[in-house]
Amino acid sequence: MAEETKNPPANDLNRRQFFAKLGLGSLGIAAAGTAAFAYQYLEPNVLYEPSPVVNAGKPDRYPLGSVTIDVNSGIYIIHSDEGYFSLSAVCTHLGCMTAWKPELNMIACPCHGSKFNEDGKKIEGPAPKPLPWKRVWLNEDGDLLVDRSTDVPPLARDSFVRV
Ligand code: FES
Repeated sequence: MAEETKNPPANDLNRRQFFAKLGLGSLGIAAAGTAAFAYQYLEPNVLYEPSPVVNAGKPDRYPLGSVTIDVNSGIYIIHSDEGYFSLSAVCTHLGCMTAWKPELNMIACPCHGSKFNEDGKKIEGPAPKPLPWKRVWLNEDGDLLVDRSTDVPPLARDSFVRV
């Protein structure tokens, strides 16, 4: 009779083992979750953005008087009598991509109707500012490079590349 009270029934032992294992399992899951969050927290949170510098190729790709858009880069390459220069093709109103309209001899925004001349100056529409000029230069291979992150003064002597 005394032995029966000392040794718990087999079912009771199984229940204890079950809850012990359940507790250990819960701790393991919590530890794994904590480790995953810690790893995410310690991992550098870096955004890899494309370079702002665009290689527009050889200048002879752009005939005198041409206005060429590079939609992927959001810039125009313009070959004027003064030389080559670059404008942002992104409308200064709400950021739509503009388009060169050769029949109208102007740059037009399809979203709300802003219009710019080929120097980027606003002609009409809600755009608050002209299209910004971007820094252009030639690299050692003779390619035209445009830095989309750097604005330069419109029509300034150094804002053109002359070949
Ligand atoms: S985004 Fe170009 S006019 Fe509105």
